[in-house]
Amino acid sequence: MTPAPPAAHDAVDVIRTKRDRGELSDGQIDWVLDAYTRGDVADEQMSALAMAVLLNGMTRREVARWTAAMIATGERLDFSSLSRPTADKHSTGGVGDKTTLPLAPLVAACGVAVPQLSGRGLGHTGGTLDKLESVPGWRASLSTQEVLRQLEDVGAVVCAAGTGLAPADAKLYALRDVTGTVESIPLIASSIMSKKIAEGTGALVLDVKVGSGAFMKTADDARELARTMVDLGTDAGVRTVALLTDMSTPLGRTAGNALEVRESVEVLAGGGPADVVELTLALAREMLAAAGRDGVDPADRLADGSAMDAWRRMIAAQGGDPDAPLPAARHAHDVSAEVDGVVTRLDAHAVGVAAWRLGAGRARQGEAVQAGAGVELHVGLGDAVRAGQRLLTLHTDTPGRVGRALEALAGQVTVGPAPGPGTALRPPLVLDRIG
Ligand code: URA
Repeated sequence: MTPAPPAAHDAVDVIRTKRDRGELSDGQIDWVLDAYTRGDVADEQMSALAMAVLLNGMTRREVARWTAAMIATGERLDFSSLSRPTADKHSTGGVGDKTTLPLAPLVAACGVAVPQLSGRGLGHTGGTLDKLESVPGWRASLSTQEVLRQLEDVGAVVCAAGTGLAPADAKLYALRDVTGTVESIPLIASSIMSKKIAEGTGALVLDVKVGSGAFMKTADDARELARTMVDLGTDAGVRTVALLTDMSTPLGRTAGNALEVRESVEVLAGGGPADVVELTLALAREMLAAAGRDGVDPADRLADGSAMDAWRRMIAAQGGDPDAPLPAARHAHDVSAEVDGVVTRLDAHAVGVAAWRLGAGRARQGEAVQAGAGVELHVGLGDAVRAGQRLLTLHTDTPGRVGRALEALAGQVTVGPAPGPGTALRPPLVLDRIG
């Protein structure tokens, strides 16, 4: 039997309640999200409500109800038929953050199934699906039956979240994107958690990024977002923990779709940049612990090649050829150091915007991205360099984009005298844990 729709309210009353700093009732929240999804509340009314929420916030009860009401607008997946426990990871988005790629097969190789239902990238942080689509033949769309079969056979799936999970969020997120209402902690937390709870994972590890390349610029805001999401997950019966991780400088040495796949394969082969390896292992340990499998050390599964085997099976199961050469951009432009010194600044946001302008990301939903475009870093923060040494390479199919990418980087990648002893240029990668 289809559940009865929530009792009707007046959209203007709901907006006025939040505008005047009141608390929305459960009935108001259930109705407004259901009516908006059906088209009975207009975009301009939802925009006004989203702005009132951004300015005046929501209580813990309101956020929990808002999340539940978004879940109720769609379907919920059920993985209880699988023979192993499930754990997923969600990152709030960062520059060069490719950890899902090595992490999903690594955790699968440790005996925990990873159902990673993702969206596409928008803005300066890349999307996991865009990265994987640079692998020849790989397809993002799977039916629920295919997801279940792959989780049982391979143990890891990264695919497009169907339109059936929390449809209210897809509509509301697109509206927030064009009305200046993305940056609201209750709206971000309910948006992320409605999709993850509806996805049906048993355990969830959140990687909440902090710094110039992230949504959250300060550790205090990131901690508040993490706490809100951990509470929402826990209250919904999902074992949830969050790591706060640094995003003031890019993760690893690449930002861009095929470039990041190449670096992820290096990690799975036992190499790769130390920070990507450190974060992948930290997240894997949290996922295994949350899924009740903390007796397994994921570092062993990287070292013995079983994570690489799981990657190859995961790619092949979705039509991809793990042995095919990855696409490369047609044009490369090097940026070199002008003086001797150390790299004193390597700003994540600037590198993300440069990669985006080179064609790695999209400005509007639905736009195509270039598989080979992006930024390749030859040095990291604190490295000693000589005048003339290459600092980074810009890759693109459209050389006309290089000028705007260089503008984004101006003053954001600097070489200067080494700082005094005891002055760290990079904060620790894992800043805090909230569980
Ligand atoms: N990612 C989401 O899914 N939702 C937000 O609101 C922000 C980031």
